[in-house]
Amino acid sequence: MDVAKAVGILATNGGKITDYEGGDRVGRPAAPIIGVPTTAGTASEVTVFCVITDRARKFKFSCRSANLAMRQAVMDPELTVSMPPALTAAVGMDTLTHAIESYVSALAYPLTEALSLGAIALVHEHLERAVHDGANIAARDGMLMACWMAGVAFTQARLGNVHAMSHPVGGHFNVPHGVANAIILPVVMDYNAPSAPAKFARIAERLGHRGSGSDAQDAAAAVQLVRRLSERVGIPPSLGAVSVPRDGIPALAADAMQSGNIAINPRPTTYEDMVRLYAQCF
Ligand SMILES: [Fe+2]
Repeated sequence: MDVAKAVGILATNGGKITDYEGGDRVGRPAAPIIGVPTTAGTASEVTVFCVITDRARKFKFSCRSANLAMRQAVMDPELTVSMPPALTAAVGMDTLTHAIESYVSALAYPLTEALSLGAIALVHEHLERAVHDGANIAARDGMLMACWMAGVAFTQARLGNVHAMSHPVGGHFNVPHGVANAIILPVVMDYNAPSAPAKFARIAERLGHRGSGSDAQDAAAAVQLVRRLSERVGIPPSLGAVSVPRDGIPALAADAMQSGNIAINPRPTTYEDMVRLYAQCF
């Protein structure tokens, strides 16, 4: 779907796709595209983003513009039933990451927050069943809806440190996007929780936690619940487990700091913080 968006941009605007890297560089509407997702993760069918891996630079970049959005999306859960369990888990954790990052983003507002929280609840309800019982249409439908709601939320509220960190991991070491996100997500949640404890407590609630009355404790529960969900759907436990070398951290951190998502992450982040965050993912 992202390649289709890139082709659509070039068809009406000319040039090379790298000319459109960053925000609002697409001058004319892309050629009309109807998106038909066969996974439930990227939400590319409803977002204003197009993410491209530049193999020469080992860099994943994104283009953001209302002019590259698809005209229509056809979302049919039957088209997602043939996804194998590992792919279902990875794209499902990408959806959860979109929901959580958009919810705590500095750009979030009540409409996007409602969509983000709704998506988290749907992931809680449906992801495990979609992974372990792939033919279950209700579970597949639930995940497609979660993906959609999170996509509408993050197309407005954007994302945060997890996506800033996972794109370099994918660009340098070919780790699938959803797997990288799932490994990084709890580490960044733990880092961000002190900046928005009440919001993280609400995330825990949507993940099935009964509130303790202390936002800090409930926020810690949210981190644990995400870790456990990852384990149960078979996500590898660390970046080391997906063959990312520890000595890659400085280059990864330098790339991550170039992401526009750092500025809207709820907790300010320096290069040194970024190095520590990556180290914790091992
Ligand atoms: Fe993503």
